[in-house]
Amino acid sequence: MSTISTRPIGADLPRIDGPQKVTGTATYAYEHPLTEPAYVFPLLSTVARGRVTSIDARAALALPGVLAVLTHDDPPKLADTSDAELAILQSPEIHFRGEVVGAIVAESLEIGAHAVGLVRIEQQAAEHGVVLRADDPDLLRPDGVEDAATGDVEAALRDAATSIVATYSTPIEHNNPLEPHTTVARWQDGRLRLYESTQSVHGVRDTIADLFGLAPEDVHVTAPFVGGGFGSKGVVHAPTVLSVMAARAVPGRPVKLALSRPQMFTLAGHRAPTIQRVRLGADAGGALAAISHDLWQHTSRVKQFAEQATAISRMMYAAPHRRATHRMAPLDVPAQSWMRAPGIAPGSFALECAMDELAVALGLDPIELRVRNDPPIDPDTGLPWSSRNLVACLREGAERFGWAGRSPTPRSQRDGRWLVGTGVAGAAYAPESTPGSQAQIEVLTDGRYAVRIGAMDVGTGTWTTLTQVAAEALGVAVEQVALEIGDTALPYSHVPGGSAGIGSWGSTLYGAARAFRDAHGADPQVGDEVTAGAADNPAEDAYAMYTFGAQFAEVRIDADTGEIRVPRMLGVFAGGRIVNPRTARSQLIGGMTFGLSMALFEAGVMDANVGAVVTDDLADYHVAAHADVRELEACWIDEADPHVNPMGTKGIGEIGIVGSAAAVANAVFHATGVRVRDLPITPDKVLGAD
Ligand code: MOS
Repeated sequence: MSTISTRPIGADLPRIDGPQKVTGTATYAYEHPLTEPAYVFPLLSTVARGRVTSIDARAALALPGVLAVLTHDDPPKLADTSDAELAILQSPEIHFRGEVVGAIVAESLEIGAHAVGLVRIEQQAAEHGVVLRADDPDLLRPDGVEDAATGDVEAALRDAATSIVATYSTPIEHNNPLEPHTTVARWQDGRLRLYESTQSVHGVRDTIADLFGLAPEDVHVTAPFVGGGFGSKGVVHAPTVLSVMAARAVPGRPVKLALSRPQMFTLAGHRAPTIQRVRLGADAGGALAAISHDLWQHTSRVKQFAEQATAISRMMYAAPHRRATHRMAPLDVPAQSWMRAPGIAPGSFALECAMDELAVALGLDPIELRVRNDPPIDPDTGLPWSSRNLVACLREGAERFGWAGRSPTPRSQRDGRWLVGTGVAGAAYAPESTPGSQAQIEVLTDGRYAVRIGAMDVGTGTWTTLTQVAAEALGVAVEQVALEIGDTALPYSHVPGGSAGIGSWGSTLYGAARAFRDAHGADPQVGDEVTAGAADNPAEDAYAMYTFGAQFAEVRIDADTGEIRVPRMLGVFAGGRIVNPRTARSQLIGGMTFGLSMALFEAGVMDANVGAVVTDDLADYHVAAHADVRELEACWIDEADPHVNPMGTKGIGEIGIVGSAAAVANAVFHATGVRVRDLPITPDKVLGAD
């Protein structure tokens, strides 16, 4: 563990916004005090494909307190209809079950909910397809994603001393932040005011301005606190558009829409299901000769979204012969979007399970197999690593977890009726680089530095950690920094997706701090001010930059019932410099919990007849809860990476989920001898294959 530092970066600082959160005074999107808000209720399709033939809203409109009904009959005008997920109510076509086909705007929640039931929506259903198949006749290659082929994979697999072929599958998974997607909108004098639960205030501003033909400066978005997003709040979804349409229908009046939990399963994006065939070939010593990863996923008809699961197989281990392919089946399903470690979460499940299968086939320890195939340079780009400490993480983890002396034989450890096993997996995640953000620094009358940037805190601790980075960049104590984030009135900032938050915003603050000192020196006056962005980092083109990690899990499985428990998990990470050990640990164990949940519980169950996910609440779609999580430990090795950015941070928002589901699956195999290749791992699969 890192030691407590007196410097701002590295300090074990409690959350600055903690008191506001625990006293309930932190204002989330729905909670901004506004006079006489109206309430938006979406009307939704109940067939997966077809068209709306008529909407009879007369009874709803006759209800006192119903202010407006929106439908495609009188389509709210949009300036840009190129994004079909967002171009709602522009046509009667239905693209998926649960699609927005209208809305009620009402004086109260009660009136709105009642009015929804009074609307008669006639739909003509067409034949739908919602089930992913690798032999779907309409498979397509995602735009901009090329197949990769190096050497001759088929020959290398044929000639390999040992090879494995395995097909893995992962289900639809849903982002389920505690705070649902929420918009509060007011349209007044051609200007739009939004309180939005979003990961990017400027992203919302720009998207909405384009859609409604407004100047960006006429759209003001505020999001001081956000109750989680896991990627789904990184882009605008249809409910935000619907809320703005509703606000325009009742000018001057604020309208509110918070998705219900079932609506979160269709209108907030999701992770596509995947089918992944991994083939590995190695020589007798375990050196990989071939790595091949073929991927199939579904994509919606409204918007293509590539879940790039093969990306990790392109860089994780070295092999002279390599192949990666990616195909998508367009189906009548809702639009996907980002979900924590997009692509890499399901991809690492397949690759890291396959490595375990290869280790078993070789009779080699799975850690040793990974060590022997640790590439000196990035196999994908040929660039040197800015730093790569996967092996150090594996070794540190083996030591802490107690790996030494582990029997390689599956089903060899028993404790009463419990079968016990352990598993390991590697992890890697490349933090995005998002240049172009700006920050303003100004000396306030009390002598503190106002630091203004349109960043946001999705719940991870940005209020605290960005204050620390700003203090370090300015060379002052954290108490000297008054951070302002979460508003488009602040300088432009990019979405923090892809673990880019601290790296991107922090680089921006370093650039602004340097510009401030250049302009005003070490002893500035009240009102001295500078707005600037990050300096270019030429190292970004010269190095492959990744956070690495090693995941360990122990499982216990009831030999009679197949009940699965995970008494402990350990993650050891190499994420560069850690800004705040308290918030970092929280991020990492949060990611690992996500992985545990992915391994054992989460599945959007698609009903082929209904044409929709039917497990659309938190009772049927279980997300790991406290009772599921026992001993969960995350730690990190000291790592100084001089290339990544001025802070030396590499991004830790997503690495916790990478490989963690594979570690659990590998432990399940070790405990039972049953290789479950289809997530989630449920008792029936453990028993059924026995
Ligand atoms: Mo993250 S899924 O890139 O917001």
